[in-house]
Amino acid sequence: SFDNRVKLVEVGPRDGLQNEKMAIPLATKLELIERLAKSGLSTIEAGSFVSPKWVPQMDNSSDILQHLLEHPPASPNPLTFSFLAPNLKGLNNAFTILAQHPTAFATETAPPTKEKPGLEIAVFASATESFSQKNLNCDIATSLARFKEVIQSAKDTHSLRVRAYLSVVLGCPFEGYDVNPHRVAEIATGLLEMGADEIALGDTTGMGTAPRTKELLNCLRAAGIRNEDIAMHFHDTYGQALVNTAVALEHGIRTFDCSVGGLGGCPYSPGATGNVATEDVVYFMETLGMETGVDLDAVADIGQWITGEIGKENASTVGRAVLGA
Ligand code: HMG
Ligand code: MG
Repeated sequence: SFDNRVKLVEVGPRDGLQNEKMAIPLATKLELIERLAKSGLSTIEAGSFVSPKWVPQMDNSSDILQHLLEHPPASPNPLTFSFLAPNLKGLNNAFTILAQHPTAFATETAPPTKEKPGLEIAVFASATESFSQKNLNCDIATSLARFKEVIQSAKDTHSLRVRAYLSVVLGCPFEGYDVNPHRVAEIATGLLEMGADEIALGDTTGMGTAPRTKELLNCLRAAGIRNEDIAMHFHDTYGQALVNTAVALEHGIRTFDCSVGGLGGCPYSPGATGNVATEDVVYFMETLGMETGVDLDAVADIGQWITGEIGKENASTVGRAVLGA
């Protein structure tokens, strides 16, 4: 029978907030995560173990991880929390917290429950050399060698699931549209061979279009990469994210990233705006008869609240419509 379930990965607390200049209080971040969990979102990217000199906003990720383990949020579903880690230094900072709570989280071999959330580590590679230099201060090959160590250590030490982002797959702020889909397929294959459980294809700049999304996914299919190993991570800078989502859904992809209120932007992608709004994706999926498990009214309220907290416009068209705002 037709499986109409889609998995939404809420990246608001990480991608959504990482670029904000004002220091967002820890309590606000925790309230955001708790409210998202309650709304039915079961996978939430909660922080990032990167250099605080590069991304100061993510500096309290250790506190967030610790809080989530000590006080797992109430939720209708078992939860999984994801944290970025670009190198062993970042991973070991996460491990410091895990070592204090060795039985507080589920692992790949024991699935998440309501009492014990799952944890996931995310590495992030680039499809172009110039974006790799700007985002990671190293070339692609060097970054992949580091990710191999991170993936191995995450699995060997704590049996954690690992997501691997691949950024700028549909357009690069420095190299334009000239991103080779065969190179994307090659890097993605390498990351899967290292043990990554999922490739999240990042349209970092929002330059993706429907035909180029289709071309990319066809290229990955031809390279033998399975749809179930792919997630789409669309930024909505040019307003094409939902169209591209439709193309990917039609192609057979069932995992989509989104950010409540359309929050977000990448510090190393000038001018890029937020991810496609969670509210917009939930509504869109519902119109297609797809199941997200997410309460639309609840995420609309969260989007309105968090954008107000950080002094931004609510970028979700659906959110504003639902609220009559
Ligand atoms: P580097 O300067 O080359 O690193 O940065 P380094 O190894 O030479 O170390 C320099 C200093 O940073 C040292 O400290 C290290 O200890 C420290 P010092 O001795 O000077 O006091 N350091 C760290 N501290 C904390 N956590 C760490 C860490 N690593 C080193 N993990 C590095 C290299 C990768 C660290 C840096 O470039 C970095 O942090 N980059 C992250 C950039 C970032 O977070 N970008 C946004 C996330 S990616 C994104 O948004 C795209 C995505 O959404 C998908 C999409 O949209 O496409 C995922
Ligand atoms: Mg992003």
